[in-house]
Amino acid sequence: MARILDGVAIAKAIREEVAEEVRELSGRGVRPGLAAVLVGNVPASEIYVRSKVQTCGELGIFSDLITPQADVTTESMLELVDLLNRREDIDGILIQLPLPAQVDTKRLLDAVAPEKDVDGFHPVNAGRLQAGRPALAPCTPAGVIQILKRSQIPIAGQHAVIVGRSDIVGKPAAMLLLHENATVTICHSKTRELPEITRQADILVAAIGRAGFITPEMVKPGATLIDVGINRITERADFDRFFKGDLKREESFAKRGTTIVGDIHPAAFKTAGAYTPVPGGVGPLTIAMLMANTVRAAKMRRGL
Ligand code: GUN
Repeated sequence: MARILDGVAIAKAIREEVAEEVRELSGRGVRPGLAAVLVGNVPASEIYVRSKVQTCGELGIFSDLITPQADVTTESMLELVDLLNRREDIDGILIQLPLPAQVDTKRLLDAVAPEKDVDGFHPVNAGRLQAGRPALAPCTPAGVIQILKRSQIPIAGQHAVIVGRSDIVGKPAAMLLLHENATVTICHSKTRELPEITRQADILVAAIGRAGFITPEMVKPGATLIDVGINRITERADFDRFFKGDLKREESFAKRGTTIVGDIHPAAFKTAGAYTPVPGGVGPLTIAMLMANTVRAAKMRRGL
């Protein structure tokens, strides 16, 4: 039986450690602060940001939720970021993506002060990460490393194959795994003979954004599977393709008419040595690492 890597429990442990750090900082008169910028009314973004703000409260981190209208201009967003960059009570700036089409996302993310860039999206942090300097690393890949380390899964010398080359997950995950001395291969939509490469993976990270893309024949028996994908399915045919015979899923799908599947076909988990489930794997780590980055930013900015 493959081992399930419990992201919920690992995220909880990290949150407790962060809360302890916040208590220590409070003894020195420091309260880390996060500004969360949520533009417009994207339901998924609203849920994520609400959860981020709530977690701040639970850990003793100050948070300021700022909610510009959907028709906001790039210029007024730049003014907002400039203000947040200069605010002494704000250590971390989170601009929830995606932004409305009229907003120049890259220009905006580049305007965030790198020392407050708790998402790790700024090119300066990407550069620092790749140069092996202290950097705020993107939360999801940082969470992947935490799952592996805290589950005592060896990384050094292992072949880590990442499917997906996004700036937010694939590329930084490759850097972080490389810094842990993995042998790293990055695959993407143009990669030839993909299954031959994924079958070499001791650690397979799926970050493609396509439901159930990684199938059992693409997995080496005993491999560790890290599923970064969050794909909502609503069609019965899709449900049957992924979850036929799974009674628990069946019950919730019947009730809600929807369920979540990762980028790894659930049948592939049987081949694995260990895997992160969806939901309850990588997802919970993202917010925990955002909290950790906020506290880290608060300390770094004060030279602590
Ligand atoms: N949208 C989806 N995931 C994320 C994330 O990790 N950070 C931000 N800022 N926006 C997102």
